[in-house]
Amino acid sequence: MMASRVRKAVLPVAGLGTRFLPVTKAVPKEMLPICDRPGIELIVAEAVEAGLTELILVVARGKEAIVDYFHRSPALEAHLEATGKLELAREVRRVGELATVMTMRQEEALGLGHAVRTAAAAVGDDDFAVLLGDDVIDAAQPAIGQLLDVHAERGGCVVALMPVPPDQTNRYGVIGGERVGERLTHIAVMVEKPPPAEAPSNLSIVGRYVLPGRIMRILAQTKPGRGGEIQLTDALAVLAAEGQAWGLEFEGERFDTGNVLGLLRANLHYALKRPELADGVRALLQEFEGR
Ligand code: G1P
Repeated sequence: MMASRVRKAVLPVAGLGTRFLPVTKAVPKEMLPICDRPGIELIVAEAVEAGLTELILVVARGKEAIVDYFHRSPALEAHLEATGKLELAREVRRVGELATVMTMRQEEALGLGHAVRTAAAAVGDDDFAVLLGDDVIDAAQPAIGQLLDVHAERGGCVVALMPVPPDQTNRYGVIGGERVGERLTHIAVMVEKPPPAEAPSNLSIVGRYVLPGRIMRILAQTKPGRGGEIQLTDALAVLAAEGQAWGLEFEGERFDTGNVLGLLRANLHYALKRPELADGVRALLQEFEGR
């Protein structure tokens, strides 16, 4: 069965950002910069490039800056234009016009599954994508686009996978299943953050998903799991048991920007890709070597 074209993407950005306290006391972690852009802009750009033009941000109190960032700021644009800063004016306007953005509020921090379920009224019955802000992926074809291609062929749910060192399975959703292609696995089981001894494999879920609309009904029935939270992985495990789940080891490099060192690593990577920054960054790296 050909799946219909997916247009909607849910971006859960309600997390407290405790690993970045104290800065996240006043600044959403998704607004922390990778060079001169908030990390979340790279995620939005990935979605838009893959044809996902209706974005649903799941926010919480204190996350208003993210919403403002993706809307227009006519007063700022007018000021920049009046003072002759036309290039900046264009850039500010471009960001505000990247996509159609809807906002839903998650009223309590009850887990990723609960955050996705918060978007139910905006998603309706449509199949949709989910992109998590901590996982920034640099790829020739957007990672979520690679998943959408699999979804168009197979339907069901498709998750992004990455092998991790066996002692790190307790940080991820982990899958077990049968490999059906060079990078594709037909998933049979999914477990949220299993200790290494209980992990079905070392293939772990990275924060990109394409989900069938009916996952919302499954999430409504999903009981709290690991950490007392409603886990998206537990809802997807229901689909896996029905043979309706696929995992793709995507092509591209993933950056975990959910911790300080990971964010720094992403900053170095993206700075080295910018011609006007690359030489300066190399000089800095040399200066700090051996300190
Ligand atoms: C979430 C998911 C987990 C997934 C991970 C990817 O965990 O629950 O299954 O592997 O994202 O980044 P979190 O990192 O939010 O604890």
